[in-house]
Amino acid sequence: MSQTYPASDEFIARAHVNAAQYEEMYAASVSDPDAFWAEHGKRIDWIKPFTKVKNTSFEFGNVDIKWFEDGTLNVAANCIDRHVATRGDQTAIIWEPDDPKTPARHISYTELKDEVSRMANVLKAQGIGRGDRVVIYLPMIPEAAYAMLACARIGAIHSIVFAGFSPDALANRINDCGAKAVITADTAPRGGRRTALKSNTDKALFDCSDKVKCFVVKHTGDQTTWIDGRDLDLKAMMAEASTDCPPEEMGAEDPLFILYTSGSTGRPKGVVHTSGGYLVYASMTQQLTFDYHDGDIFWCTADVGWVTGHSYIVYGPLANGATTIMFEGVPTYPDAGRFWEVCAKHRVNQFYTAPTAIRALMGQGTEWVEKHDLSSLKLLGSVGEPINPEAWNWYNTHVGKGRCPIVDTFWQTETGGHMITALPGATAAKPGAATKPFFGVQPEVLDPATAEVQTDTAAEGVLCIKDSWPGQMRTVWGDHERFMDTYFSQYKGYYFTGDGCRRDADGDYWITGRVDDVINVSGHRMGTAEVESALVAHEAVAEAAVVGYPHDIKGQGIYAYVTLMNDQSPSEELRKELVKWVRTEIGPIASPDLIQWAPGLPKTRSGKIMRRILRKIAENDYGALGDTSTLADPSVVDDLIENRMNRG
Ligand code: WTA
Repeated sequence: MSQTYPASDEFIARAHVNAAQYEEMYAASVSDPDAFWAEHGKRIDWIKPFTKVKNTSFEFGNVDIKWFEDGTLNVAANCIDRHVATRGDQTAIIWEPDDPKTPARHISYTELKDEVSRMANVLKAQGIGRGDRVVIYLPMIPEAAYAMLACARIGAIHSIVFAGFSPDALANRINDCGAKAVITADTAPRGGRRTALKSNTDKALFDCSDKVKCFVVKHTGDQTTWIDGRDLDLKAMMAEASTDCPPEEMGAEDPLFILYTSGSTGRPKGVVHTSGGYLVYASMTQQLTFDYHDGDIFWCTADVGWVTGHSYIVYGPLANGATTIMFEGVPTYPDAGRFWEVCAKHRVNQFYTAPTAIRALMGQGTEWVEKHDLSSLKLLGSVGEPINPEAWNWYNTHVGKGRCPIVDTFWQTETGGHMITALPGATAAKPGAATKPFFGVQPEVLDPATAEVQTDTAAEGVLCIKDSWPGQMRTVWGDHERFMDTYFSQYKGYYFTGDGCRRDADGDYWITGRVDDVINVSGHRMGTAEVESALVAHEAVAEAAVVGYPHDIKGQGIYAYVTLMNDQSPSEELRKELVKWVRTEIGPIASPDLIQWAPGLPKTRSGKIMRRILRKIAENDYGALGDTSTLADPSVVDDLIENRMNRG
């Protein structure tokens, strides 16, 4: 039995949801979802109230997901305007810059309304309106939040591209969603260094329609190129714009944003989230999972380029009238105490980060934590990958001082918000377990081979979800077939997460990691196929196969097997060049950690690469290769083992 860590009696007494309430509400949420969500759908403001609640089908070939479909609302009005009357002077966003010597900024709800309205008016004046797509390629600056909310205000659909992605990745996304405009900044300071976002955008726009407008936030003032007629100085235009911009009345099922994410095959998919259900779900999970109370200071350390930043820096907290922190920097700049310094400085109450950050900081020693006053912390959260017990214990002891509940939140870009997580007043934490489903979420463990639903409480298999919840993605942008194929074809009648899991005898869920060709590097999702296609685009490469392997800090590292063209020979320079190549093709997060020169790859007689074998060799577990008799040429395996790169 694993040790459990319940919250203190005092915490439980104040919590929004205790154990008895969780049981009762959960039962209601699955026995009568219509009644449950009709009630909780009222947590946001509707222009025209919905009369229909749930209208969803997981039937393969016919997948259709609608929530609150006849209601109308405006998401930005929910995140801003409705708070202005009651808490206009309250800080909505605390912006903490990369350089700690630069003062933080406190943006009140009233200021947020003015800034967002100004930006919305600028976009409108350039012909952007309902249903148009706007790509946002910005660092963690207030303008990123303004841009999201400005789009929401006028009914445009935003698609954020993480500022660490390359010009190619940016161009692909601009083209895939047919964006009318991109919003970027001159340069982005991060960890004392600067990323040239505008120059990346210039490169990307070479491969896009010349109609795409480019709004530039002059953030650092660094010099950039400027193309008259295409490039627009966003801050200067905002200064001239009116603060009056009435929010558009949008349908609950109108798209709010597209966010590209990696899958097993092909290019990243544009995950589409809509307005009503997403906002209900993001706000409810932010309030209940983190036990957020009015006046608390909430800090999610993610980047707005990922879904975690969408739901738990911007939409969830702001819909709840919270104070949310936006941090431009990195955990180790100027030193390994930065996170804790920021917690102390802003008296943070809930702190939400990823295991990879915890592991990196853990390696720097406890003195960095002990230097800072962390007495304001009430709760800690984890997201992005399973948290290993060492990291959990360190987080609990040194950051939470043994008095802050830890919520390990399992969810995905596709799910919009938390799926399996403790609710701190209701569920005792178990290090490494995501524990229990959120309201309305019905997890099932299926046998991966037979697709049989495991009925025993203690079970292991793949994680599927039986019915829809309001935050679920609705489609893949422009490709509903791909949506159905990716998530609903393997296990008929279920949403398939792509993750493996174990349910213990207490009914708690433990996520065991992806069962497909997606790897999780420092909490970032990466498709092995994407890295492979970047590698084979290099002229020296004939063939490449990429797998994940265990990595102490990153969780998983990227291991690439590369077969060179006949006229090429392996060298250290070429290895470096390939790493650099992948960084420019996709971005630094996709850099291979290890490249092994492979004279041949293990293939079946029909030519299919046997990834199972490559994974085992990369894991340094070559004693357990299993059946290799179906290989066309078993001798290639000996060579791969002989020259393996990970001997740790
Ligand atoms: C993994 C991030 C274990 C999982 C919100 C999932 C986790 C993928 C956890 C989604 C967790 C996320 N425990 N694994 N608490 N949270 N994952 O789309 O493999 O970037 O499928 O969304 O991250 O990654 P994504």
